[in-house]
Amino acid sequence: MSRIIEVDPENPDVGKLREAAEVIKNGGLVVFPTETVYGLGANAFDEEACRKIFIAKGRPQDNPLIVHISSMEMLEDVAAEVPKNALKFIEKLWPGPLTVILRKKDRIPGVVTAGLETVAVRMPSHPVARKLIELSQVPIAAPSANLSGKPSPTRFEHVLEDMNGRADVLIDGGETPFGIESTIIDFTKNPPVILRPGPLTAEQLSEIGKVEIHESARGRISLERPPSPGMKYRHYAPQKPLILVENLKKMDEVIESHPNCVIVCPKESASRYRGRKVITMGSLKNEYSIAHELFSTLRRADEEEGDVIIVEGFPEKGILFSVMNRLRKAASEVIT
Ligand code: TXA
Ligand code: MG
Repeated sequence: MSRIIEVDPENPDVGKLREAAEVIKNGGLVVFPTETVYGLGANAFDEEACRKIFIAKGRPQDNPLIVHISSMEMLEDVAAEVPKNALKFIEKLWPGPLTVILRKKDRIPGVVTAGLETVAVRMPSHPVARKLIELSQVPIAAPSANLSGKPSPTRFEHVLEDMNGRADVLIDGGETPFGIESTIIDFTKNPPVILRPGPLTAEQLSEIGKVEIHESARGRISLERPPSPGMKYRHYAPQKPLILVENLKKMDEVIESHPNCVIVCPKESASRYRGRKVITMGSLKNEYSIAHELFSTLRRADEEEGDVIIVEGFPEKGILFSVMNRLRKAASEVIT
């Protein structure tokens, strides 16, 4: 069993977080909420502690971790250099759901970066994550706190499902605000390249400076040369087969051939499937609500009776571009 600590996400009790920080300092594992999804953290300078993250998640060793920091001084401890262009984005978007790929300092052990010469760094804005890093006085390496391959945890109940007994401390800070993982930009390239789309959209980023979108960002898998080793894996997948229907004209046809299905769609189209098992996932009027509910919906669809999950595709704009990236990676079949 893990020790569970409940905190107010807006204004966490420092005494309680100090206890979790001690666990980090002593080489233990702590699950904590961020503004994107829950993370499974360890002292980023402690090779042994970081090794335990891979074991707890069942994560392949060649998939590097993101290093979370709470100050610009900490950035200097982990990155060998910060290009001017990266600083321009960092100054506007940190703290927040932006991860930057930079050249690493030697102090970061190879297990964190899967042997790469670069490191992924992010300064989260969530008060619990910020305070935990600050009190630990070290950067915290943390992947999403799900078992490898499963949807990322956005609610504490998901953390309990996946990590109880696998981490020393689980911090309950309620639901995570964005619900999908941070936007990752590689600043070792010029112009910089979006490797993983997230809450910060390509449209918003382009207002700050020129960025390219990597071909993998649309989420189609089986790339021969993925930009990051971890991006070749099927991700976020529920247990049941998931059929993503991008061509909505084919919805009826796909449903007909899977009578015992669970349908996932936005509120607006629920009435189209009367008499079927439907789970709604946010509203098209608020695209952030769709991202926010994405992973919890996939978990819920798995628990419903039915043999297949059929998901309505979304238009690829704004944050829905990032939602489609996750859905394609979760899908066992895509209907175009
Ligand atoms: O929002 C988030 O980013 C969450 C929270 C906990 O911060 N974290 C997260 O971590 O999503 P994870 O491990 O699930 O995803 C990290 C991604 C992986 O796709 C990994 O391959 C990539 O970051 N990555 C890490 N280091 C990299 C590097 N040096 N170069 C390229 N990609 C890297
Ligand atoms: Mg993950």
